[in-house]
Amino acid sequence: MHNLITLIMADIFERLIKNYGPIGQHRERAHGYFAFPKLEGEIGSKMKFRGQEMIVWSLNNYLGLANHPEVRKADADASAKYGLALPMGARMMSGNSDLHEQLEAELASFENKEDAILMNYGYQGIMSAIDAICGRHDVVVYDAECHACIIDGLRMLPGHRFVFKHNDVEDCEKQLHRAQALIEKQQSGGILVITEGVFGMAGDQGKLKEIVDLKSKVPFRMLVDDAHGFGTLGKTGSGAGEEQGCQDGIDLYFSTFAKSMASIGAFMAGPKTIIDYIRYNIRSQIFAKSLPMPYVVGNLKRLELLQTQPHLKENLWKNALALQKGLKERGFDIGKTDSVVTPVYMKGGVEEATLMVMDLRENYKIFCSIVVYPVIPKGHIIYRLIPTAEHTQEEIDLTLKAFSETKAKLDAGAYKSAEIPDMANK
Ligand SMILES: Cc1ncc(COP(=O)(O)O)c(C=O)c1O
Repeated sequence: MHNLITLIMADIFERLIKNYGPIGQHRERAHGYFAFPKLEGEIGSKMKFRGQEMIVWSLNNYLGLANHPEVRKADADASAKYGLALPMGARMMSGNSDLHEQLEAELASFENKEDAILMNYGYQGIMSAIDAICGRHDVVVYDAECHACIIDGLRMLPGHRFVFKHNDVEDCEKQLHRAQALIEKQQSGGILVITEGVFGMAGDQGKLKEIVDLKSKVPFRMLVDDAHGFGTLGKTGSGAGEEQGCQDGIDLYFSTFAKSMASIGAFMAGPKTIIDYIRYNIRSQIFAKSLPMPYVVGNLKRLELLQTQPHLKENLWKNALALQKGLKERGFDIGKTDSVVTPVYMKGGVEEATLMVMDLRENYKIFCSIVVYPVIPKGHIIYRLIPTAEHTQEEIDLTLKAFSETKAKLDAGAYKSAEIPDMANK
């Protein structure tokens, strides 16, 4: 019997190292270059990669706050004053402070909501918020291209989930009717719609206004992850809800601090009663240490600048539009972006994509990120460019020239190769 069990039972570790996964399989040639590259020096539109200065298009430092002198001073002063330890413990137990509550109040007011709750990270925060909000009879209706943190939050959902085709309002309505029918059959439960303000890969805004309008046909609550809209969209920068004039219809507004705020942490804003419910029931915050004081103080400073320095958002958009216009004029397909996220769609295999990226880095000193199979279908390549308020017109022009030249080489088959180049750190 014992022998039989040893025959059937696999060693988990052995299985893992037989298949490192879709990207991990390339690690021996890619590590440190195509994956896990190290950008060094001051954060900005130019940084060093393997000792060479590059124009960088892969940092979500939209407003350029990462290295803003006032932000650096606030971060440094708060670190000197408080260290990273304070406050000790979870918010509910011993980790609360006036400054945490002040940041929550300022975020709520900026988002035109009654209250807000801070979260240590966006990823685990939103997962855990979905877990706190939804019960076993509730149905979540969500966009097919929602970020991994939403999909992972839904893995914990004890109730049903219905996906609608990406940004397809008609399909969303269809799924809402399915959800309604299920709830009527169960005689219990409600509907939560989850979508995003801006989809981070393609840069298209979620059709928030049209989805909010569906509330007149089927009653539901709506949660929006606006990671890429916060600070970049809307007259005041408060996000996609403001941009589309439907902030009131968004019941729960969420954003990470990892993009426009160039920091760490996240928040969810909504009605006081519901935020209070979440505060007392969100496991990722109840069972984890609260945001350290320097993060809170640093985030207060960032929020102040985001609200009082409109030229940062104006510069960001000036750069984004110049880049997008230049790419379109040169015949590049940038898809349906209506945000600053700028994808460039091309055709080619993973090997070609890596050779082109290498050419861009080594010969043109342009650092950008690529997205390939299995994240997108085989044979497609997306170069994802993230403009910031700090980029210059000269950097945009150099990038456009580099893209035209490397695209011509791609089309001429110059990057054809049987394998990805070996660029790993040795
Ligand atoms: C749409 C979206 N939601 C959530 C997150 C996760 O946020 P965080 O980095 O704070 O965990 C990200 C990435 O940062 C994101 O792009």
